[in-house]
Amino acid sequence: SVIRPEARALLAWYDRHARVLPWRARRGEVPDPYRVWLSEIMLQQTTVATVGPYFEAFLARWPDVEALAKADLDEVLHAWAGLGYYSRARNLHACAGAVCARHGGAFPADEKELQALPGIGPYTAAAIAAIAFGKRAVVVDGNIERVIARLFAIETPLPAAKKEIKARMDEVTPEKRAGDFAQAMMDLGAAICTPRSPACNRCPFESACAARAAGIAESLPLKAPK
Ligand code: ADE
Repeated sequence: SVIRPEARALLAWYDRHARVLPWRARRGEVPDPYRVWLSEIMLQQTTVATVGPYFEAFLARWPDVEALAKADLDEVLHAWAGLGYYSRARNLHACAGAVCARHGGAFPADEKELQALPGIGPYTAAAIAAIAFGKRAVVVDGNIERVIARLFAIETPLPAAKKEIKARMDEVTPEKRAGDFAQAMMDLGAAICTPRSPACNRCPFESACAARAAGIAESLPLKAPK
């Protein structure tokens, strides 16, 4: 099987430097789609640090999708307080109900089927397919946009650059470990390829990065004026 050198370098970096986060399976563990889904919904507009305790509290109270589906909506909304955007909590509860009613309590692995569920858009469907089910899906969030814009020195401003960024992420995503690859890109964006003062000397893409070579890493991605 073909794996690009960039992907190999990033996965090797991830094997050493992955953040230990409560929703991630440990090495060798089978991921739980319920945990992956719950965390991805919580992380949509909320930081990793804030989500941690909420994730643990939800899991302790509603340990699986059936339990969450049976929960009282008002109790779910109450437990959500502090995360903001209550429509996410309403969709969360509706999605748990739909997974039980339509899929017998098992999250589907297919991106299109995932996208048909309440609150699951293209990003979340790709993230669940890759992280929970090991499918080769193309995951792009804000951190990944920045890493890809730099790796390929994409000088088209956002949001116009989104199509090109997705196509480049598709090019570099490996057949195997697509979920680890996506989460490695997120960790790289959080720890190394930061918006300001990126730590290029510690980056597994240092020798492959077009923006680094051109001396323009910190200036990317460009953003169209609002
Ligand atoms: N942000 C969204 N999903 C994430 C994940 N799986 N790991 C870290 N940060 C994330």
